[in-house]
Amino acid sequence: MRQSVTPWMKFAVLAAVVAVPSLLLAADPGTAPKAAAPVVTVPVPAAAPVTSVVPSATAEVIPVAETPKAAEPAPAPPKAPEGEEKPEPVGASTCLACHTNKEGFHDNIHAKAWPRAKHIEFEQSCEKCHGAGSLHAAAAGDRSNPGFSTIRLPAELKTAEGSKTCLQCHEGGNRVHWEGSVHESRDVGCASCHSVHAGRKELLGADTVMDTCLKCHQNMRAEIRKMSHHPIVEGKITCTDCHNPHGTVGPKLLVGNSVNDTCFKCHAEKRGPMLWEHRPVAEDCTICHTPHGSNHNKLTKQRLPYLCQQCHTNSRHPGTIYAVNPTSVGANDPTINLSSRTLYRACINCHQQIHGSNHPSGKTFTR
Ligand code: HEC
Ligand code: HEC
Ligand code: HEC
Ligand code: HEC
Ligand code: HEC
Ligand code: HEC
Ligand code: HEC
Ligand code: HEC
Ligand code: HEC
Ligand code: HEC
Repeated sequence: MRQSVTPWMKFAVLAAVVAVPSLLLAADPGTAPKAAAPVVTVPVPAAAPVTSVVPSATAEVIPVAETPKAAEPAPAPPKAPEGEEKPEPVGASTCLACHTNKEGFHDNIHAKAWPRAKHIEFEQSCEKCHGAGSLHAAAAGDRSNPGFSTIRLPAELKTAEGSKTCLQCHEGGNRVHWEGSVHESRDVGCASCHSVHAGRKELLGADTVMDTCLKCHQNMRAEIRKMSHHPIVEGKITCTDCHNPHGTVGPKLLVGNSVNDTCFKCHAEKRGPMLWEHRPVAEDCTICHTPHGSNHNKLTKQRLPYLCQQCHTNSRHPGTIYAVNPTSVGANDPTINLSSRTLYRACINCHQQIHGSNHPSGKTFTR
């Protein structure tokens, strides 16, 4: 997870706020504003970013031009019990007075699309997601002030519950099966994969779909780099060609109704119908293949002939590697006694049409 604000960092930032009241926020290096405000590097030792970015010792501190008109709503008594006072909207310009590093939001797809699509003007935008901010603004960064957390903070927005904020507008489409999906039920919220402020394509939290997924699915990092693999690292296909992370009817978040349906999207020639069907092929490609990566040829789970021998031990010609005619020349010499059934492509030297055959005499998949 990218959220890595350690307690000492928070403390240091708070300390900085206390010591230099006009310096409220450290810049997020990723989304640092192209703002006109002069960027001053202040020698506060721990000017660590408050944002979810790897801490950098040289983080810049953006001074707030003037003290924000945060006191607008009645000055909140520090320990005001919740419920006595309702937060009111203050508008984006108030938020941006303190959060200068969020000025780039102007160029965000949301800020651009909302006026037209939802009649939400820029001024209302922040609070559409974060909730009314008057009490938060009045708290001015003091986390111990109960008003501070009256807005929806990142920790809340990243949960499945917090995702309702997004679903107000994004319920349909690819997300019809979001409710009850693996990610939703494991509390992986929209903002775990999407970074609303980053402004990348599809507002993703990382540069590519693959990197977005690998943040959590670490084991796949190795899988997709094995000797035989789908060209995911090469960028020809990606995780979302096979999975819909927002939820599906099929198993394992697959885009097709079954494993095979998913594979047929690109390997249509394997669909058939075949005159002679090889049962496991029609049943599930992953009986023999692993979808992500394998150290055996062509993404097979096992090396040939072992792959076939899991099921075929008894056939008219014996299916095992020891099955050399015991009367043949050199039958007992292991250097000569190599069955064609084990060499090179083993069984598929002869059974080439392993996925099924349309040849009238292709019953045994040799043609
Ligand atoms: C579409 C919903 C949405 C809108 C609109 C929005 N935010 Fe956010 N904001 C989020 C989410 C979700 C996060 C959690 C971190 C992330 O996804 O980047 C967040 C995080 C933040 C943070 C925490 C710091 C950080 O970078 O993690 C600040 C500060 C913030 N937003 C301020 C603003 C301001 C100011 C505006 C208006 C200019 C605004 N937000 C508009 C959804 C939104
Ligand atoms: C008076 C200055 C001020 C105003 C106005 C203000 N904030 Fe903040 N806000 C802060 C400070 C300071 C922090 C950082 C506190 C910290 O990290 O310890 C913060 C933190 C946040 C966070 C992140 C909290 C977290 O858990 O990391 C969000 C989100 C946020 N503000 C949103 C908003 C929104 C939306 C508005 C407008 C409605 C707004 N703020 C107005 C000072 C302000
Ligand atoms: C008030 C309605 C509204 C809310 C709330 C909202 N969005 Fe959006 N979102 C839109 C609109 C409108 C667009 C523009 C594209 C479109 O028409 O689909 C959009 C676009 C997007 C896109 C596509 C970006 C692209 O490059 O195509 C993503 C991803 C997205 N929103 C995620 C989120 C997330 C995550 C949240 C919650 C933190 C959220 N949205 C909250 C209305 C909303
Ligand atoms: C597990 C990661 C993950 C989660 C959780 C997630 N998304 Fe996405 N989302 C993605 C990826 C990856 C894409 C890019 C899709 C692609 O490449 O086809 C995307 C695309 C989108 C898009 C644009 C294309 C489309 O499908 O319409 C929207 C809008 C969107 N997501 C909204 C949401 C909302 C709202 C939530 C929460 C309910 C959410 N996402 C949760 C990973 C995620
Ligand atoms: C924030 C962490 C996180 C991110 C990011 C994430 N996932 Fe997941 N994903 C999970 C968790 C938690 C599970 C539950 C299963 C588990 O414990 O491994 C899961 C399960 C899955 C499953 C198995 C579904 C099942 O039925 O067993 C698939 C497939 C999956 N994720 C695909 C993706 C893809 C594709 C992406 C990128 C678009 C992605 N995930 C991004 C956390 C994440
Ligand atoms: C070619 C299609 C395809 C691509 C591309 C793909 N997957 Fe999968 N994935 C599958 C299939 C099929 C399964 C179900 C495998 C099974 O049941 O053995 C699966 C299962 C999973 C699971 C669940 C694993 C488990 O053991 O339950 C996760 C997590 C996952 N994929 C993540 C990813 C991620 C992350 C990426 C991108 C790096 C990705 N997948 C790319 C087809 C694909
Ligand atoms: C989004 C398209 C897509 C989907 C869906 C897909 N594949 Fe592939 N597959 C490819 C591409 C592209 C290649 C590489 C072809 C090449 O390099 O010539 C490939 C190659 C393969 C190979 C040969 C690998 C090698 O080392 O040459 C196997 C086996 C395979 N896929 C099985 C599957 C299975 C099983 C599924 C379903 C779980 C599946 N594919 C789903 C696109 C896809
Ligand atoms: C009975 C085991 C088995 C099943 C089930 C199976 N395959 Fe294969 N597949 C193989 C073998 C063996 C190879 C060739 C391996 C080699 O050349 O080393 C292969 C090769 C491939 C290739 C690459 C060569 C080519 O023919 O294009 C693709 C793509 C492929 N399989 C897709 C699929 C799909 C899609 C399914 C499900 C519909 C499937 N396979 C089911 C055993 C199987
Ligand atoms: C998961 C078990 C399984 C695996 C693995 C498997 N097969 Fe099969 N195979 C079957 C079944 C079941 C049949 C159908 C048998 C029947 O109809 O009597 C079959 C049928 C055949 C037939 C036709 C038999 C006949 O009498 O018509 C041949 C040839 C064959 N398989 C070869 C192979 C080869 C070569 C491999 C390895 C690439 C392989 N099989 C892997 C289960 C498997
Ligand atoms: C040198 C070529 C060749 C190799 C190598 C070979 N086969 Fe065969 N196999 C055949 C031929 C030809 C037939 C058809 C016999 C017939 O129709 O009477 C056959 C038939 C079969 C059958 C169906 C007939 C039965 O008796 O059930 C199965 C199953 C089979 N082979 C499995 C395998 C397996 C498993 C391997 C790898 C260990 C393998 N074969 C390697 C040529 C070969």
